[in-house]
Amino acid sequence: MLSVEEKNEQKKVAAKEALTYIEDGMVVGLGTGSTAAYFIEGLANLVRKKGWQLTCVSTSIDAEKMAKTAGLHTVPIDKVEQIDVTVDGADEFDGRLNGIKGGGAALLFEKIVALKSKQNIWIVDEEKKSVHLGTNFKLPVEVVRFGAPLLIPAFTQMGLKPAFRKQANGELFLTDSLHYIIDLDISGIYDLKSLATQLKSITGVVEHGSS
Ligand code: A5P
Repeated sequence: MLSVEEKNEQKKVAAKEALTYIEDGMVVGLGTGSTAAYFIEGLANLVRKKGWQLTCVSTSIDAEKMAKTAGLHTVPIDKVEQIDVTVDGADEFDGRLNGIKGGGAALLFEKIVALKSKQNIWIVDEEKKSVHLGTNFKLPVEVVRFGAPLLIPAFTQMGLKPAFRKQANGELFLTDSLHYIIDLDISGIYDLKSLATQLKSITGVVEHGSS
């Protein structure tokens, strides 16, 4: 197991490598989370050093704040035709580059940004690699608040051991879009594609973190 310092070092190395994909004039998608934060910081330094003109699109309120504080130029996603490259973290990934995202609850905006991006780069430390997705991380599902508790029996019946994500004070966690997150145990699921399709067909489910 890696120490926190070793993990952070790997995150920094990955973020630095991702910077080599950025060129002057690009539209860049900014991911959310501790690894993406290293990228945002590095990107701001690079822009300052080289005098580049970049346009950035954030995947969350947190990423937006970070980018603005660092001095990056950000615009809402609907102000760009396309995003050249998005650099984001992930919570777990397998050998075929399937992954779980949304540990930071930004999965919905992250997916919208990723869909509009020509290239998506995940920056991760080695401990996020797993043979079977769901071994180390729950699959986050973003749901509308109205009637949300009604989804629990449905997910339970699917064998997914659902749990509402809570804040430290015990209140239910709210996403940037003011939805709830339900975390699902997918360790017993071997066909993630069909689970993803099934989840999207449930009324009240907004998005899931399977990518
Ligand atoms: C945010 O919702 C997530 O998808 C993050 O990208 C993911 O949780 C990775 O975060 P860390 O880089 O902090 O592990």
